Amino acid sequence: MKIGVIGSGYVGLVAAACFAEIGHDVICVDNDAEKLAALNAGAVPIHEKFLPELLQKHRGKRLNFSGSVHDAVRASAAIFIAVGTPQSETGEADLSYVEAVSRELAHALAEAKDDYKIIVEKSTVPVYTNAWIHRVMEQNGAPQGSFDVASNPEFLREGSAVTDFLYPDRIVAGADQERCAAIMRAIYEPLTSGEYQKRADAIPRPDAARVPAEIIVTSAKSAELIKHASNAFLAMKISFINAVANICESVGADVQQVREGIGADSRIGKRFLNPGIGYGGSCFPKDLKAFHAVAREFGSDFRLLDEVIRINEEQRQRFLRKIRATLWTLKGKRLAVLGLAFKGGTDDVRESPAIALVECLIKEGCSVVAYDPAAMDKSREVLNSSIIYAESSYAAAKDADAVLILTDWEEFGALDLERLKTALKFPIMIDGRNLYSPKRMAEAGFTYVSVGRPDVAPHKSAVKAPRA
Ligand code: UGA
Repeated sequence: MKIGVIGSGYVGLVAAACFAEIGHDVICVDNDAEKLAALNAGAVPIHEKFLPELLQKHRGKRLNFSGSVHDAVRASAAIFIAVGTPQSETGEADLSYVEAVSRELAHALAEAKDDYKIIVEKSTVPVYTNAWIHRVMEQNGAPQGSFDVASNPEFLREGSAVTDFLYPDRIVAGADQERCAAIMRAIYEPLTSGEYQKRADAIPRPDAARVPAEIIVTSAKSAELIKHASNAFLAMKISFINAVANICESVGADVQQVREGIGADSRIGKRFLNPGIGYGGSCFPKDLKAFHAVAREFGSDFRLLDEVIRINEEQRQRFLRKIRATLWTLKGKRLAVLGLAFKGGTDDVRESPAIALVECLIKEGCSVVAYDPAAMDKSREVLNSSIIYAESSYAAAKDADAVLILTDWEEFGALDLERLKTALKFPIMIDGRNLYSPKRMAEAGFTYVSVGRPDVAPHKSAVKAPRA
């Protein structure tokens, strides 16, 4: 099928590359001429596993980039809107880009005057956006009956976006008309029939992947709510386990054991129950606030979401207090920070709890030497404070008073502890991601402070201050 994707950001670019991979002809549109030139020249603007391979394989063949919405509409049977929906100052989603694209789509449809096409909202949007897109398009001259609007929320995670797209837990297609639903089914047919996954050149299947993929066809409004409710539920799991971790700290229990115990109940499951320094990223913080705003708009207070957000914000402060309690004073301390990205496997630092913590540490008078395998360039763009960037974890740790783990990169969980200890001024690790077992750290001779587990403090020098 011929598909247009408007927006070449995270969601748009991954979707465009994956649609090409499953056999469609795709035009991906962006209004940023510089970005288009870079994409056409072979650049891969985001750090995402398998994306370079897919772009290389399909660019100039089944995947083309263009600056013209009109070209994409003319050529395509389905046009996906994948532009940003940032957070407005009041917490609601700012839908001005979606509205601007809807107007352009309407003008292009009015010009095209031919076949029926579907417009698909892929960006994360509040309920009723589908109806608004429809209204705006009609007001702007899209001929009645020439189009329908579907809602097809994306559930991809940064770092595994390509495999999330090609091996999804589910595909949600919100369509209020059968002819629209039929096109959505046809688009995803290579995944729902299992045909793609059988191909010899398919991107390798992750272990737990469900094959063939399941498509759930719902009303447009339900699909919109499924996206917000899914992200809110996942964030709630994280805040829940963080709150439990705090109780574990108070009573001397071990949150990892508690997580094992509750997660073994198949109704609960272990995933997204990793305690830490709180969730971040471009989705959860923004989507929780947007969902809350939508709920309020329609007369429901949904205070549970307030609490999820509050626990998340408190979690960072708590970690900061932990650093203080371990090191006594912060002014003048040299700290090695491992991790700046909002989670492992990505170079994205948007709403990264690591960045927020680094800002606080600098304000407190620490000097920070940071290392991240992928996010140092992005962090240079956003960090207002000056920090030193190191070439490796060990270089960051050199002569530091303590090492902090702020991002769950795999390599941070496999450090050579002897080498790290030699590099550090004091063998102190404060681990915001629970990447090590306290027993192992005790054996390695570290003072080790983590989340929701008893501290290891073999060194008299690390005097315990009153608990945060
Ligand atoms: C999230 C959802 O997981 C995707 O399903 C969704 O499509 C996406 O948002 C979106 O709306 O576009 P993402 O933001 O890439 O994906 O990252 P996650 O893997 O969900 O992690 C979010 C944050 O939660 C990270 O800061 C991570 O470190 C934290 N987290 C995650 C925890 O603290 N504990 C956990 O157990 C899991």
